[in-house]
Amino acid sequence: MITRKKLIESYLNFFKGKNHKIIPSASLIPENDPTVLFTTAGMHPLVPYLLGEKHPLGKRLVNVQKCIRTTDIEEVGDEFHHTFFEMLGNWSLGDYWKEDAIKWTFEFHTKILGIPLERYAVSVFKGDKDAPEDKESIRVWLSLGIPKERIAYLPKENNWWGPAGKTGPCGPDTEMFYWLGKEKAPKRFDPKDKRWIEIGNNVFMEYNKTNEGNFVKLKQKNVDFGGGVERTLAILNGLNDDYLTEVFLPIIKKIEEISGKKYGENKEETKAMRIIADHLKAAIFILADDKKIKPSNKEQGYVLRRLIRRAIRYGKILGIEKPFTDLIVDSVIEIYPDYDELKNNKEFVISQLKEEELKFTKTLKRGLKKFEEFTNKNIISGKEAFLLYQSYGFPLELTQELAKEKGISVDVGGFKKEEEKHQKISKTASEGIFKSGLSDHSEKTIRLHTATHLLNEALRKVLDEKIKQRGSNITPERLRFDFNFNRKLSKEEIKKIEDLVNKKINEGLKVVREEMSLDEALKSGAQSEFGTKYPERVSVYTILDPSEKRGWFSKEICTGPHVKNTKEIGKFEIIKEESVSAGVRRIKAIVK
Ligand code: ALA
Repeated sequence: MITRKKLIESYLNFFKGKNHKIIPSASLIPENDPTVLFTTAGMHPLVPYLLGEKHPLGKRLVNVQKCIRTTDIEEVGDEFHHTFFEMLGNWSLGDYWKEDAIKWTFEFHTKILGIPLERYAVSVFKGDKDAPEDKESIRVWLSLGIPKERIAYLPKENNWWGPAGKTGPCGPDTEMFYWLGKEKAPKRFDPKDKRWIEIGNNVFMEYNKTNEGNFVKLKQKNVDFGGGVERTLAILNGLNDDYLTEVFLPIIKKIEEISGKKYGENKEETKAMRIIADHLKAAIFILADDKKIKPSNKEQGYVLRRLIRRAIRYGKILGIEKPFTDLIVDSVIEIYPDYDELKNNKEFVISQLKEEELKFTKTLKRGLKKFEEFTNKNIISGKEAFLLYQSYGFPLELTQELAKEKGISVDVGGFKKEEEKHQKISKTASEGIFKSGLSDHSEKTIRLHTATHLLNEALRKVLDEKIKQRGSNITPERLRFDFNFNRKLSKEEIKKIEDLVNKKINEGLKVVREEMSLDEALKSGAQSEFGTKYPERVSVYTILDPSEKRGWFSKEICTGPHVKNTKEIGKFEIIKEESVSAGVRRIKAIVK
């Protein structure tokens, strides 16, 4: 067994031995930086030094940084996602470069932590118009004995890190992976195989991304290493779930005690426990920060409120009736004895949690009354379920549970529809900040948008012609597409869909826009989104296809924008297929 304390000590000592100076973990709330709400990585407080300022402690630094990332808050609930986490970090500020950085990371992983080579793989940047292939990293990895088949060459989506905000230092990276599988690791490293889990990342920061989206060379070449404490601890202790490590277990135990439920017994309840543990830990760290952030409706306070309320809602799924959020505080202090702010600000943390929980509980009570009003028929509509969610904080699962007790059902599809609509309207300013640089990437978003139309049609062609869109969400990184279908897709089906989309991309099909009445649009066969209210006149995007009898591959009512020719999209790849709710599936995909 290796403890968190031992892991951190070994790491700091190892780099101290390589002449690094230890710096403290900075505040979770960044100073003087309007581009991010929270410290999302160890490099964040170091940005001025990465850009060329002189650091008082020299050119080699090491630390463990507390971080918060909320971009993927909805992903929390599985084994490895967290909003709060600690990052092991070491930096070269214009000092050592790739050779030493990689050698030392490798030495730390294999010699100090004892990770066997058979379970080790790496990825490197394959090069594009902004920067060349990372030949040097490849050479160093080979010289260290990493077999060729265990090196993956990947594009920007995977092997480029930063900037943390809209602009700033960034560069190609090389990432290290650990084979989690029980069976022997395959010879060849397949980065898509989820059993390979990332345990570290050396970013070679020699570029600065400008406001205009250009990458210009920095004055100095920097190295920025980051490695997640939670994951590293899990793998070193042979666990395939971060929530079973000592940095979560005391919280999980406390939740078990409060709820009378058992972790790992039931899927939904286990997920709820993880969400509660993660969110409350994050909330406690935000509250404990000396900046004294309180739950509110803006910026950090809003994220804090959301975390606390989400935890309480999931508490309902575990059947927790009484206030409980403050009962977690001692477990967090026990896990992290080295963060003095937790102890020093304990009273503030507890009082804020209690107050917020009280406020929210009142809302929930009113919500239960509202719920009763909806139970005079045998189905709760999507709109009603969404009202309960939106105005009274009921998670869908809670509404479903309550409905089940009454022997009635909930229109889940309708709920999702409402949710998507709402998300589109109210992307809050605070969340917007995280999606930094969106304008810089607009070309990418447009490519993903047209890819979404191809995907929509490909699903009907490959799976079922009755498939309809149930929601879509596009960020510069990926598209997300929900549709009605009532089972998991097979590997072959996913491959077929990918192939069909790529075929249509390669055929270089024209995309045209027309305006017409809604009636005409629907008669012409244009797809509409299930449950959406459209105006009387709409624009229709058609992807022409001479090989089709009808002359087109896809036709959709849509506001655009889109590429002019499908060739512009690039290579399409599905990265995830999962269930959203009964009868609704979700696909996440990227274009390269
Ligand atoms: N800043 C890099 C990361 O967060 C190391 O992965």
